[in-house]
Amino acid sequence: MKTTKFIDPIRSLLTWSLDLVRAFKATAAVVAIMGLAFVGISVLIGMPPFAYVVIIGFVATPTAWYIVRAQRASTTSASRLTNMRLLTVIFAASLGTMVVIQAFPYGRSHSNPPITGEPQWATPRTRELMVRACFGCHSNEVEYPSYASVAPISWVVAAHVSEGREKVNYSEFDSRQRGADETVEVLEEGSMPPASYTRFGRHPQAKLTNAELQELLVGLRATPGLSGD
Ligand code: HEC
Repeated sequence: MKTTKFIDPIRSLLTWSLDLVRAFKATAAVVAIMGLAFVGISVLIGMPPFAYVVIIGFVATPTAWYIVRAQRASTTSASRLTNMRLLTVIFAASLGTMVVIQAFPYGRSHSNPPITGEPQWATPRTRELMVRACFGCHSNEVEYPSYASVAPISWVVAAHVSEGREKVNYSEFDSRQRGADETVEVLEEGSMPPASYTRFGRHPQAKLTNAELQELLVGLRATPGLSGD
């Protein structure tokens, strides 16, 4: 059977991992807690999917390499695996990953292309509220905080800004912005700004009070091109 070609390596990888978990329960517990914390926080701040692959890959590869090497040489006690050694390797790999990913070019250019046109805002106050709540991702006037230079946070920011601008860019209103006519709708639904943007006390200016939200909706309905009708 052809399928066993694929299933057998997966099965032996699973057995190998399970044996490791059984033999090194303390390490497995620490890794599980660290992993859950990492994934949990990452989901809450809206980390792009590729970041999980890169970070987990960079931590797991040297760790697996170390384990395999130690198992092959396990006849001498000096190279025998212990919880202490394993944890040291995993922490070193995690630290190393944080250093190595700083060299990635993605997310480092804090671009703000020229402003070529804006909606005909009903009032200056309408614009002011939009700047506070939305221009962090949907404009060419993005203010990049200092932590936006540190990977993987810089990746989160870059991914949100590029995806946000692609949907609607309120600084390039000289050309058609496909998502623009949904502006009123997303505010009524409360789906924008994304919950991840204001979590953990970040961007408090983007959290509009109910009165500000009502004021903004009146202004947006009186601004051409921002509502469905
Ligand atoms: C953290 C960055 C961020 C902020 C701040 C933000 N957005 Fe978005 N916005 C996005 C992203 C990413 C998308 C595309 C993915 C999605 O629809 O969730 C998007 C999509 C949209 C869309 C298109 C919806 C669709 O279905 O096509 C509209 C309209 C929009 N945002 C309006 C706003 C408005 C209005 C605000 C301010 C109240 C705002 N956004 C604040 C990131 C942001």
